[in-house]
Amino acid sequence: MIAAAAAAFVLLLFPAVLAAGCYSSIFSFGDSLADNGNLLHIDGNHSAGFACLPYGMTYFGRPTGRFSDGRLILDFIAEALGLPLLPAYLDQRRVGGDFEQGANFAVAGATALDSSFFKERDIHNDFTNVSLGVEIRWFRQLLPSLCSSPSDKNSLMADCADTLQDSLIMMGEIGGNDYIYPIFQRRSLEEVKSFVPFVVATISSAVTELIELGARTLVVPGITPLGCHSAFLTEFQTQNVDDYDAGTGCLNWLNEFSTYHNSLLEAELQTLRGLHPHATIVYADYFAAIISILNNPNQFGFGNDTLVSCCGGGGVYNYNPRIECGSDGYSLCDEPSRCVIWDGLHMTEATHRIIAGGLLQGPFASPAIADACGLQSVVHSSTSRIVS
Ligand SMILES: *[C@@H]1O[C@H](CO)[C@@H](O)[C@H](O)[C@H]1NC(C)=O
Ligand SMILES: *[C@@H]1O[C@H](CO)[C@@H](O)[C@H](O)[C@H]1NC(C)=O
Ligand SMILES: *[C@@H]1O[C@H](CO)[C@@H](O)[C@H](O)[C@H]1NC(C)=O
Repeated sequence: MIAAAAAAFVLLLFPAVLAAGCYSSIFSFGDSLADNGNLLHIDGNHSAGFACLPYGMTYFGRPTGRFSDGRLILDFIAEALGLPLLPAYLDQRRVGGDFEQGANFAVAGATALDSSFFKERDIHNDFTNVSLGVEIRWFRQLLPSLCSSPSDKNSLMADCADTLQDSLIMMGEIGGNDYIYPIFQRRSLEEVKSFVPFVVATISSAVTELIELGARTLVVPGITPLGCHSAFLTEFQTQNVDDYDAGTGCLNWLNEFSTYHNSLLEAELQTLRGLHPHATIVYADYFAAIISILNNPNQFGFGNDTLVSCCGGGGVYNYNPRIECGSDGYSLCDEPSRCVIWDGLHMTEATHRIIAGGLLQGPFASPAIADACGLQSVVHSSTSRIVS
């Protein structure tokens, strides 16, 4: 069923502007799947692999802090909605950036749970101590400047609600890193599984907080199939063929873990929909999108070596933790546009484009983002109809 649906949407020419006028702004939270320069700004280490080419080679022609060869899912969504690519909040606020049409708070390496949760358990995050709570705090700090009359607190809240009701909120992806660190640090699967309800509850509170601030359309992605990333495939490689999915070649136990998180998240979103019937809460199925691509790579324009990273340090999956993409000695595929996976944990621009298409028009979001627009009667106008 997913394959048939995938075939249907890949045949559509993906229009540059799908639903212009739908939303006046986008606010984005999350981790490296959505970061477009925040970690680069925090880290300031311009010799780190991701701060160097070939990151950015396909679209920007320079590294931007995005963990890909080009645009992210978020970038394609902004383009399709007729909005500019979002400013990275940390990078742009120091130069007095304009956030009228949105801001991106996502930081690569961020977790949903606060950094203290991991510190208490002696789980290390070498990239950042930013969590979803920190990103939401930045958003709350920015919000008054986006609302018209910041003098009086009551009218401030009303004005901000007006501002946010026309916004699209992209809530992630977030949560993947909460598991990636402990799994790589060889914590038992049982222990890591016990984090899932806390991660889901944290995402749920963030969604609730944004709805209370006036948000009306929120897209909440699930996590990717962890067992399909070359970092995991390399680290947990086995001789046992039963550990691998025959169709995709991904590691079953890790994909089952992703499915566990995603099913709890989906159930929680269903509860939230009941509590907030005036809000549209979209589940974005990154997992199904990626599996669908891996099962039908040629149909989407990809080659057959789907699980081999385009950029990495060699080996079966072109991944080596000691030779990062962008650092000395990495190897690069000939055609990034024919590769699904970019580096150990991230996807190519080509993959992002397809996922974004499946979120905007379906089948990987329900309701599809372009349709969710029509559900917002306040925003809705004749210009906000889907053109294709
Ligand atoms: C910057 O990144 C490079 C490459 O990862 C690393 O060797 C170096 O130690 C880093 N420098 C600092 C100051 O963190
Ligand atoms: C994160 O680290 C920065 C710099 O080391 C520090 O200033 C900040 O207070 C920390 N934040 C949290 C939430 O731990
Ligand atoms: C992928 O493999 C299939 C089956 O072996 C083959 O028919 C197809 O031509 C291959 N596609 C590419 C792009 O190599």
